Amino acid sequence: LDNGVGLLPPLGYNTWNDLSCSGMSEEAVLSAADALQSKGLMQKGYTYVNLDDCWQDPNGRDPTTGRLRADPKRFPSGMPKLAQRLHDKGFKFGIYTDRGKRTCAGREGSEGNEYLDAKTFADWGVDYVKEDNCFSSSGANDKDTLFEQFALFRDALNKTGRPIFFSVCGGGDQLPFANLSYYARDPRGGKSLANSWRVTSDVTGSLTFKFSLHVDAGLAEQAGPGGFNDPDMLLGSSPGAARRLSRKGSRTQFNMWAILMAPMLLGADVRQLSTFDLETYTNTEVLKVSQDPLAKQGGLLCSRGDAYVWGRQLVDGWAILFVSQAWLFRQSVVCSADCWEKLPFPRNSTVHVQDLWSEPLPSSEVRAGEEFALEVEAGDSRFLKLSMPSSHVDIIV
Ligand code: GLA
Repeated sequence: LDNGVGLLPPLGYNTWNDLSCSGMSEEAVLSAADALQSKGLMQKGYTYVNLDDCWQDPNGRDPTTGRLRADPKRFPSGMPKLAQRLHDKGFKFGIYTDRGKRTCAGREGSEGNEYLDAKTFADWGVDYVKEDNCFSSSGANDKDTLFEQFALFRDALNKTGRPIFFSVCGGGDQLPFANLSYYARDPRGGKSLANSWRVTSDVTGSLTFKFSLHVDAGLAEQAGPGGFNDPDMLLGSSPGAARRLSRKGSRTQFNMWAILMAPMLLGADVRQLSTFDLETYTNTEVLKVSQDPLAKQGGLLCSRGDAYVWGRQLVDGWAILFVSQAWLFRQSVVCSADCWEKLPFPRNSTVHVQDLWSEPLPSSEVRAGEEFALEVEAGDSRFLKLSMPSSHVDIIV
């Protein structure tokens, strides 16, 4: 969406996986923000603090003004104050609504009040709006109304004059598998509609995670500065979390989201983040891939069985991700001729290899076109950057 925001994928935190409905409160949100700061995540670029569902007053709109209002018990200081406090700390403030009469958790939705709600959010100092797809009076799968309602909110946000990242959710994920891609490909969808659009159902564990990758990768050409395919939040690997991955799975998800140029919204409890997950989310090299200024989404280069080689073009090389989705055993993942074919390195040229996790490599150089294999544990990945050695770069004197 050409609204001046979201030129690169957003980084931040979203409350849903962590707080769900019952844990929502201004105290919890502020302490998540404090944790982002004290753990150094904010300094790495995780600046969006996004409220998901259940911030709204369960008793509905303000009867005199018709405006949405915050749950007075859970957010006693009110939204403008919360926004102010987050802004003062250097964060951006995100909020959630729904195109229907009600949100997915049954709170007040925006149907019929798009202009008023966009104005309210802008008045509050909101920087990011997620609009969901539950309880529309046209039903969840009526494509025409879906685009009309989302577009109404987009126009209403534009009218406020405040630059607000607009993220739409649903209309992809609620539909049967075969229809998922229309959401980004339809001329009324994708970048003409929003800054990001969900392309999968909620990621809750390894299986949905596996499935979402391929849906997302098929839509790579739809993404670019101002608009991103959204495969949902990063789960983390906290043992107590309802939605989580294994440690290897969590790191693989992070690598994968960088290849897919996906929004990097942390879903875990930031206060309880393990050292392992913190190390994952603060890896400078992977974040550089995520935020690469070329802003070109990657995709699958080649695969054999459940061994995959993914790639993404960068300003100064290629990010290459070897993934094993085997259940049990370690296997060899191979970048073979069909993989090299998709890469621009001249055949037989020497290519420099860097491991983005500083894991040992058999060699720091490979020959383009020659089979290149790495051993990968079940459910794990190896993330590399390939580039021409500096001696091959033309030096302008
Ligand atoms: C839907 C969305 C989730 C979350 C919940 C909130 O399920 O897919 O990301 O926003 O609604 O109710």
